[in-house]
Amino acid sequence: MNVLLIGGGGREHALAWALSASPLLTKLYAAPGNAGIAELAECVKLDVADHAAVLRFIAETGIGFVVIGPEAPLVGGLGDALSAAAIKHFGPSQTASQLEGSKGYTKDLCRDAGIPTGAYGRFKDAASAHAYLARQPVPIVVKADGLAAGKGVVVATTRAEAEAAIDACFSGAFGAAGAEVVIEEFLDGEEASFFALCDGKTALALATAQDHKRVGDGDTGPNTGGMGAYSPAPVMTPELVERTMAEIIRPTVKAMAARGTPFKGVLFAGLMITKEGPKLIEYNVRFGDPETQVLMMRLTSDLLTAMLATADGVLDACDLRWREDVALTVVLAAKGYPGTPEKGTEIRGLEIAGQVPGVQIFHAGTRRDGGRLLADGGRVLNVTALGATVGEAQERAYTAIAKIDWPGGFCRTDIGWRAVVREKAAET
Ligand code: AMP
Ligand code: GLY
Repeated sequence: MNVLLIGGGGREHALAWALSASPLLTKLYAAPGNAGIAELAECVKLDVADHAAVLRFIAETGIGFVVIGPEAPLVGGLGDALSAAAIKHFGPSQTASQLEGSKGYTKDLCRDAGIPTGAYGRFKDAASAHAYLARQPVPIVVKADGLAAGKGVVVATTRAEAEAAIDACFSGAFGAAGAEVVIEEFLDGEEASFFALCDGKTALALATAQDHKRVGDGDTGPNTGGMGAYSPAPVMTPELVERTMAEIIRPTVKAMAARGTPFKGVLFAGLMITKEGPKLIEYNVRFGDPETQVLMMRLTSDLLTAMLATADGVLDACDLRWREDVALTVVLAAKGYPGTPEKGTEIRGLEIAGQVPGVQIFHAGTRRDGGRLLADGGRVLNVTALGATVGEAQERAYTAIAKIDWPGGFCRTDIGWRAVVREKAAET
């Protein structure tokens, strides 16, 4: 089977790597891909917002299955265009993608289905948002309703900060994404990333992971797309996994089906593990980045088979196997990220770094210029390692990073710290 993978980040390199191992795969295409994906797939330039062009490409190349990596094409309705043309694909419809595309939509669904999440209000104008805020305690969270590339959320510790965040949204800082504002109760606890494949009726839990959203060591500095991750997340005990499935994921799948907008694809729940149990912070309708990099390192079952089962609605017959090993990934970003990253700096030494035992390097934002490898984005490389413990995986990842010669980049030096602290406490 010929497969087209949409996207070009580290998540897509990890997906391409797992798809490439499938006995069902004939040829993999990626649009746009990156320098790492180009070693596994034919990378093509396609305007994925131009659905007719995508359909023409699919017809010309005999593609039988499309995997949509990022949220933007999903929210843009690429899944619907593929459905209308009877092209099998992995990724939800435009309506079901509202679970990520509109924070207010998800909060209303949680309210209607009794799913645990923070108390909230939805507002279309500044005056009513300010009036609601005045009655709430701080800290409090102010969110632009729509897609804002992870930048539309302010966790305000003071009332003034929350007021400024409301005004920023309504003054157009996030364009149309900020035309509506959600004000949400602050949830206290440890965050975890939870993933489940959903075929419209059945949900199958994947492994758990923990991301590191802040740019700086010790979880300091501005939010990013994610600076590193590991799997499994020790905070997610088997009991909490079952509660998450029973209280959050399955009720969502049921509610979406009941609305006539079944969710098919991967549901990524951002969870806060509070004293009362898991609560939903947000949904994404796609795999996480960089969480996917660690999930794919641990998955031993065939990814393409599982994605086809998701599209075909036969997940109830599917069973996934995972390595016992821990996987950990460290994001190497270009200097300037998450502001304006420096582009075009040269990266050397990846071959030697990739020879460290247990290490796999995924490309996120790279391109080739003749024989040279150049940085071409904010998050540029994901140095990923397996290990018997988080400590071992962490040591291997940072050993590999030390062999990479890239003066234009930086990384956090403490990815996995929460889990390493737990491991050390368990030893004594
Ligand atoms: P989001 O884009 O909704 O995932 O939010 C980005 C980050 O803001 C999350 O990963 C959390 O760290 C934080 N955050 C969002 N909502 C809340 C909340 N209700 N309580 C505490 N922290 C939150
Ligand atoms: N790592 C978080 C995300 O993919 O949104």
